[in-house]
Formats: sequence, structure tokens, C-alpha cells
Amino acid sequence: MCGIVGYVGDTKTKDVLLAGLARLEYRGYDSAGIAVTTAAGEVDVRKRSGKLARLAQLLEDDPIHPGTTGIGHTRWATHGGPTDENAHPHLSEDGRVALIHNGIIENFAQLREQLGEASFKSETDTEVVAVLLGSEVKKQGDLEAAFRTVVTQLEGTFTLLATSADEPGKVVSARHHSPLVVGIGDGENFLGSDIAAFVEYTRRAVAIDDDNIAVITADEVRVTDFAGNPLPFEEFEIAWDPAAADKGGWPSFMAKEISEQPEAVANTIRGRITPEGVVIPELSELGDEFLQGIERIVVIACGTAAYAGMIGRYAIEEWARIPVEIELSHEFRYRNPIVSEQTLVISISQSGETMDTMMAVKYAKERGAKTISVCNTQSATIPRESDAAIYTHAGPEVSVASTKAFLAQVVALQLFGLHLGRVRGSLDSEAAKRAIAQLETLPEKVSEAVATHDDITQLAKWMSDTRSVLFLGRHVGFPVALEGALKLKEITYIHAEGFAAGELKHGPIALIDHGQPVFVLVPSPRTSPVMHSKVVSNIQEIRARGARVISIVEKGDTATLPYSDDVIRLPLADPMFEPLLQVIPLQWFALELCQAKGLDVDQPRNLAKSVTVE
Ligand code: AGP
Repeated sequence: MCGIVGYVGDTKTKDVLLAGLARLEYRGYDSAGIAVTTAAGEVDVRKRSGKLARLAQLLEDDPIHPGTTGIGHTRWATHGGPTDENAHPHLSEDGRVALIHNGIIENFAQLREQLGEASFKSETDTEVVAVLLGSEVKKQGDLEAAFRTVVTQLEGTFTLLATSADEPGKVVSARHHSPLVVGIGDGENFLGSDIAAFVEYTRRAVAIDDDNIAVITADEVRVTDFAGNPLPFEEFEIAWDPAAADKGGWPSFMAKEISEQPEAVANTIRGRITPEGVVIPELSELGDEFLQGIERIVVIACGTAAYAGMIGRYAIEEWARIPVEIELSHEFRYRNPIVSEQTLVISISQSGETMDTMMAVKYAKERGAKTISVCNTQSATIPRESDAAIYTHAGPEVSVASTKAFLAQVVALQLFGLHLGRVRGSLDSEAAKRAIAQLETLPEKVSEAVATHDDITQLAKWMSDTRSVLFLGRHVGFPVALEGALKLKEITYIHAEGFAAGELKHGPIALIDHGQPVFVLVPSPRTSPVMHSKVVSNIQEIRARGARVISIVEKGDTATLPYSDDVIRLPLADPMFEPLLQVIPLQWFALELCQAKGLDVDQPRNLAKSVTVE
């Protein structure tokens, strides 16, 4: 949460900061602000509550002074509402030091008391750090030394960037449980909360580790620990194409990302299927012996990633015959979970920075478990913390509502399940071949599912006044129902719930009233005849009570026709792969209903893409 960008280079500072903030806005959009340190020795700040466009307008009306050094911030509010005063950057009392922050300073009240007479303009925890840093700079006469003194006094989580009027040409930064990356340019250097902050300027990056400080000037990058001891660092090359993070003519990132799902799936599979079967070289660190000896798998994730985990569980249990539990990351470490050296903990995170998941991974490691991260973001914190990482190759996902990353996560777990099944000898080669053949045809089928858009658009238009939508699924369809409901809640703000179809009669059927829309995910009658007939009965039960039924069926299944108001038809797939198709019309439905209601598709209220606070 909160996007952070820093720059030292030439006079294009303001443009670099604004471009970086535009790419980071998915991390928070309660306010935005920039500070530029000028050669004349002053720090100039412009900041505004609301979205970045308001800051851009302010900069037109009241241009910022030019300079070669600057920091920028886009905020997801924690301490203090989304006002101009609470927007970052915050200044020291004398206005000569500017600071931005992502995270939460838990001891800010004590520090504020310690600062005694100092006056504060905002309600934020961050301003306390800015004031403290300003007073240390005055005392020590050196930004870096003062910064080191301050960071060791802070409790909580933070990425901090600061610039001082007395030392133009330098930005100091530090991280403690919040993300920070450096971008290395030619005569210019960058800082960001992720590579999106500077991907259009350089492909060279350095991931900064926890409890490290990075100092950039135009020509130099230095990394130290909090005591100031120099540390070596390793560069990596950014694989993302900067154009991939642009809307590219689409009305929203979400629409673009839904449409990109065939490639997201193809890219995640690419190179991992060989004539010998599924290969995942990234797992070689763990070794086949460990994989053969695993007794339990625990999957930890949040939100959409957790629903991907629920789907992956069916595949791993089916093919590798190992018990798999799925748990929300933020619940995992608070219940004294049973974890041993034979437990494999798989975390799933698109961003690789979700604080709840990161803390759960650390906890699992402390307890002796081996950890694998399924992640979409190169060199993010969670894969770096894990024993092995299976990267999904969905490309940058900007929309807050996750779509293509979800499909890629499910596919990555399925590849893992197939690999594990073969390594452990629980999956025979014929069954593996059949599953692999299904995976290979998946991108094409996903394309067909994406083409359900037109049918869904009509449906959403008719339903624009709907106040509640229910989703029903059985077996692998159940997590799809949960995901369909989450998509709808997060971008349309209407009540939505997903249920296991069999659970309905145990309570939720009381919600069914005349006209209540219910999406039903219908399993294939070819491959799952028993489940299919049960779901058809469930449809009859809700229909008898007045529900408006929208059935999602495979092509050729006519059984639900007499009891459905609308039917969406999808290509044929084996049960494990059905969710990857069924979820797509639900993604389109959320998007179209959001548009029909005139809401912001990519930046829903109260949310941020990357949740870096607990
Ligand atoms: C999904 O649409 C959400 N925005 C959210 O549930 C998300 O999946 C969750 O916060 C986990 O994020 P991560 O994959 O980056 O860890």
C-alpha cells in the first residue's frame, strides 16, 4: 500500500515522479504529492488529496520549482483521513527535509511525545518521522547519519525516502518489512516501491533487503545496513515490457487484463512442459527427496490468491495424493499451526509483497517448514524469503481486481501438482499425459471463454439496479463462486456471496426471493454426471423459490435450459480445468456491472492493489 518513487538525475525530475506515480497509483489513491530539492537549496512540495489527476492539475496551476532530485508518494490512508494536510511528502519543522513513507510507525505516539514542543500539521504517523529526521539533521549536519539514527528508533513497518535542502543530488531510503527497489540508470538513479515506478526508464534493478539503507545520487548507488556498514548488492534485469503496463487502448486495465488471459496462461505453461512431462527447474533447490517425503501441504494466501489456492488443492490432492490445507495468511500464524520439517508451505501472491502472507511465510520458516512461493512479481520480497519460487508469467497486473494473475496462479499450482504426482509415483503416465494435453489446449479455450463478453454485457445492462447477487458452485466450482462474489463486491460495492451449492439447504436458501439473481457454475455432465445432476436439482430448488438463474454450462449441456433465465456456454474441459474457464464470464460481469453503474473499474474505493500493512 502506498506507492513510492525517488529520483536523482536531471531536470526531468517532476515528469519522472509523475510518471512513476501514475504507474504506482494502484497501490493507493487517497492522495498524491511530490517534493523536489532544487540546486538553490530549497525543498518545494506540492500535494493534494484524491487521485493523481488532482495533483497534476495543481502542478499546472502552481508549477513546482525545477530540480534534479525528488520524491513522490501516492497514499492509501492509515493514520488520518485522505486530506491535503495528511498527504505525503511531510516536512521537518524548518521545511528543509521532506520525507515519504509506506507502512505504519507503531511507536509514533511515543516519538511525538519525545519531540515535545514540535508543531505538527497532520494526523499522520509519518510527519513525526519527518520532524524527528529534521531535528537530527540539524544536530548532526549530515542527512545519512541522521537518517540512520532515526530508522533505528522506529517500530512497525516502513519504507522511507527522504531528501534534504542542504544536500541536493541525494535521496536516502530504508526498508523494514515494506518493499523497496532501486533502478539503475545512466547518469540517473531511481527508487520505487516496485519496479513499475521506473520500468520505462531502465531495465536494471536491485531489490533492497529488509533493514537495509539505499542511498542514490545521479552517479552512484550505495547500500548499507542500519549501522552504516557497506553491503554488496546484486542487479537483476527487469523482464517486464514497459508497454505491458499501459492500457494500450483499452477502457480499463481490468478489461485489458481479462483479455490477456490466454497469453498469461500460455506464458505460465511455456518451458515447463517437455516430452518427459512437467519440469519445474526452480524446484531443484528443494530436491526430489524432500518432495517425496512431504507429509502435508499448507497453502497460505489472501483474497483471490486464496481462491486460486483452493482450486489448486483439488489438483494437488488428486495427482500427488498429499493432504492439502488452505488457510488465509493472516489467520495462519495466530493459531499455533502444526508445521514440521515434512510440511511444505506454499504461499500464493501476485505482488509478492502482501504483508499478511509475508509474515506467515516467515512464521512457517521459523517453525522448520520448507516454503515455495507462487508469485507474479520478479524479485519481490516473498519469493526472496522462500526456499523456492514458481513464477507465474502473467505480466504486470495493474487493476486492483485481480484477473489474469488468478488464472496463472491456478495453472502454476496445477503444474506443481503434476510434477509432484510424478515425482512421488502417485500419478500414472497416461493420466499425466491427459492432464498435460488439457493444459496445452487451455490458452485456446480461455480465448473462447473471453469471447463470452458480449453475452455478459447485455446481462449486466439489464441488471444494473441489482442490489444482491449470489453465486453457487460445487467441488472446484465452489472457489469459483467465491471468486465471482469477491470480484463483484470489490468493484461494484453490491452485496454478493458465493456458496457451495450443497450448503444452500442448510441456511442460505432463505435468501432466495422473487428475482434474486443467482449465477450457477454447472459441472460437466460428461465428466461429472453425478455432480451435474445434483447441481441441476439445486437450480430447480432455487428457481422454485423465485430466483433468476444464470447458468454457466459447457457447450452442449441443455439440462439447465428449462430452469435458467440466461445460459452462458463455455468450451469443454476436464473438471480440474473448468474453473479457469468458468471464472471468466464472472470477471466480465463484475466489470460490466461496474461500468453500468458509472464506477471506477481499476480503482475501487477503499482498496489498494498491494496490501503491505497487516
Ligand atoms: C483481488 O481482486 C484482490 N484485489 C485481492 O483479494 C488480492 O488477491 C489479495 O489482496 C492478495 O494479493 P496478492 O496476490 O498480491 O498477495
